Amino acid sequence: MSKPRIAVVFGSDSDWAVMESCVRQVREFGEPVFVEVMSAHRNPDRVQEFARGAEGSGIEVIIAAAGMSNALAGAVAAHTCLPVIGVPLVSGSLQGLDALLSTVQMPPGIPVAAVSVGDAGAKNAALLAIQIIARHDPRLAEAYRTFKAKQAATVAARNKALQERLAP
Ligand code: RP5
Repeated sequence: MSKPRIAVVFGSDSDWAVMESCVRQVREFGEPVFVEVMSAHRNPDRVQEFARGAEGSGIEVIIAAAGMSNALAGAVAAHTCLPVIGVPLVSGSLQGLDALLSTVQMPPGIPVAAVSVGDAGAKNAALLAIQIIARHDPRLAEAYRTFKAKQAATVAARNKALQERLAP
């Protein structure tokens, strides 16, 4: 199997329940994925080591997810030139609002691409990473076009079923 071009890292094993869908979504495009739990607060040395070495190991896009103050995406972005996608997760008393604000309030000069909070963000982060890599990978670009077409067909089919139920 080829080397992963997408890395998915998250702040705690408790985030796996949500981030599993992100990993699954990447794999559905036939892409291998690097996965690791690492915490900007609890083991910051590992975060730094990973972020500094990611580009050299063949990673092209990093997805970083965490709940509560979500420092992970920003901490990773500080140590790499790779694009970083931040996923704010639902955790703790503020139910994801804290993680959302941390992810979108990066200072100028250190971008983090923020996606939706929680489950939708986990899936969208995978899709965005695929879209980025697809810009220079025709196989992936074609797979993404197929994904979009299937999604559109599903909506059309659901609408047809609804119209039939509504018909007098
Ligand atoms: C964050 O704190 C993690 O990403 C997780 O969402 C949250 C709680 O972590 P645990 O206490 O469950 O390990 O850093």
